[in-house]
Amino acid sequence: MKIGNLELESPFAIAPMAGMTDTAFRRLVKRHGGCGLVVSEMVSSEGLIRGIDRTLEFADFSEEERPVSIQIFGGDPATMADAARIVEGMGADIVDVNMGCPVPKIAKHNAGCSLMREPEHAAAVIKAMTRAVSIPVTVKMRAGWNETQKNAPALAKMVEEAGAAAVAVHGRTAAQSYTGAADWTIVADIADRLSIPVFGSGDCVEPEQITGKLEQGIDGVLVGRGVLRNPWILAQAADLAAGRPMRHVTMEERGRFLLDYVDLLLHERVRDDERNRLKSHDRWVVNKLRALGAYYTKGFEHGAQLRTCLNTTTSIAELRSLISGFFVEAPSALQNVS
Ligand SMILES: Cc1cc2nc3c(=O)[nH]c(=O)nc-3n(C[C@H](O)[C@H](O)[C@H](O)COP(=O)(O)O)c2cc1C
Repeated sequence: MKIGNLELESPFAIAPMAGMTDTAFRRLVKRHGGCGLVVSEMVSSEGLIRGIDRTLEFADFSEEERPVSIQIFGGDPATMADAARIVEGMGADIVDVNMGCPVPKIAKHNAGCSLMREPEHAAAVIKAMTRAVSIPVTVKMRAGWNETQKNAPALAKMVEEAGAAAVAVHGRTAAQSYTGAADWTIVADIADRLSIPVFGSGDCVEPEQITGKLEQGIDGVLVGRGVLRNPWILAQAADLAAGRPMRHVTMEERGRFLLDYVDLLLHERVRDDERNRLKSHDRWVVNKLRALGAYYTKGFEHGAQLRTCLNTTTSIAELRSLISGFFVEAPSALQNVS
């Protein structure tokens, strides 16, 4: 699979997830294999231009994550073009545009999914960006704004004509947010109409669901919450796609993943205002583990107990011993019930 001139080793990718898919997490997922592309958390185009610390932190990535796509949001063509130049200057392989975020804080600035309500303007944003940079510009959108405005097929065609090198479609409307089920027929329909690669996104929590999408003529799959639950899911899907036996993940490996995540986060850059607010870098790491833990422990016996313990843990030592206790030393205490 190719996006512009960029060759992806696998059509399976980590979906962008604000607050979750930081560089440390992406690095660990990538190390397990099967991941053809990583996409950053969404980054403000205005923040990039103003050089705001918080924004730059969200755009951090490391060499081992390549190919890397940085996702930006904004609604002004000139600002988005300038931000795309900055992203290219940072060395990213792809710049992606967020046309899917339904959160009012983003949508009210004529960014995120509200761009879908003004398709001509959305296409003008893409045109300005593709003129400004030589790396591929891609778009991630939803099925539409609401049930009566499911315009992803028309918009996808327009952004293709404006120069986008690939599109990704989350098969829900902004009005649905995360309720209901993702509509993959709309993704298959778009894949059928476009000549550029089309990725789908939504509700893939088992490796078989991921590989099944390729059979529907969809070029690639962005997996979000499924990766937060099971960071090996892309490697398992790649096993299935290659006809290899699917790798089995032990409880000890699951524990090791969290411990490695803690270690990587301890070495991450945390901006001063965030560190001051939380009083310490350790506290920031604990908060990150709480956020991931909410997904990671889903479907596991005693998962709720682990989540409660994570919510009361305050130190790294406690955090490590909690993870080891559950996953490494007494794996039999947690049986996979899914
Ligand atoms: C916590 C969270 C944060 C998200 N942040 C972003 C984001 O920054 N940009 C974006 O395009 N989509 C974002 N999404 C949407 C996902 O990329 C994905 O399209 C959606 O969750 C459906 O896929 P899934 O069912 O595999 O999770 C986010 C989703 C979640 C759950």
